[in-house]
Amino acid sequence: MKFYGPFDQSIFAVASYRTINDNDAMEYKQSGSDIDTSKKILKVNHAGEFGAVNIYKAQVLVSNFFRREFTPMLERFQEDEERHLEIFWTEIQRRDGVKCKSFWLCGLGGFSMGFVSALLGKRGVMACTWAVESVVTEHLEKQLTYLEMIGDYEAIETVKAILEDEEHHRDVAFADEGMNVLFGPFRFLVRMFTEGVIRFGMR
Ligand SMILES: [Fe+2]
Ligand SMILES: [Fe+2]
Repeated sequence: MKFYGPFDQSIFAVASYRTINDNDAMEYKQSGSDIDTSKKILKVNHAGEFGAVNIYKAQVLVSNFFRREFTPMLERFQEDEERHLEIFWTEIQRRDGVKCKSFWLCGLGGFSMGFVSALLGKRGVMACTWAVESVVTEHLEKQLTYLEMIGDYEAIETVKAILEDEEHHRDVAFADEGMNVLFGPFRFLVRMFTEGVIRFGMR
């Protein structure tokens, strides 16, 4: 865990002042329920990582039959997601938290999306990865803005620990056929589902 001195904290204070009127951060406003927003963010992200693990698991499964040369990359992505899953779970347990209500929905949804996308071939896989990871990175940025606003430095560290990997997954998909025009409707559906489970988890 990184140590934050007064200097770092004052930078966060300035950053939070700058973002107080930021609509993006307001999407993650103070929770009205008895579970605080930071904990909800961690739980939603943890459930999302479970979904991501299952996307790649299904894609590896299908690719093993149809496109073996494609599986090493998918397995590397799966390992990233398993590491992320562990990072969030550790922080949730430190806060005496439990799994998100959307945990199994994410797992099932993730596996289904991964399976269907892999049947559509490489472009389907890449479109799915781009769609999921683009929504995820947008939310991680908003979460960071919110968490900096409230000064939850441990949660900031956990989100920052995964952000770069997710951006990498998104950018690989973007550069490698993920934006094929024929897959526009598929990307739209995957983005809607991803956005939906995040919102459901945060309620
Ligand atoms: Fe992840
Ligand atoms: Fe990812």
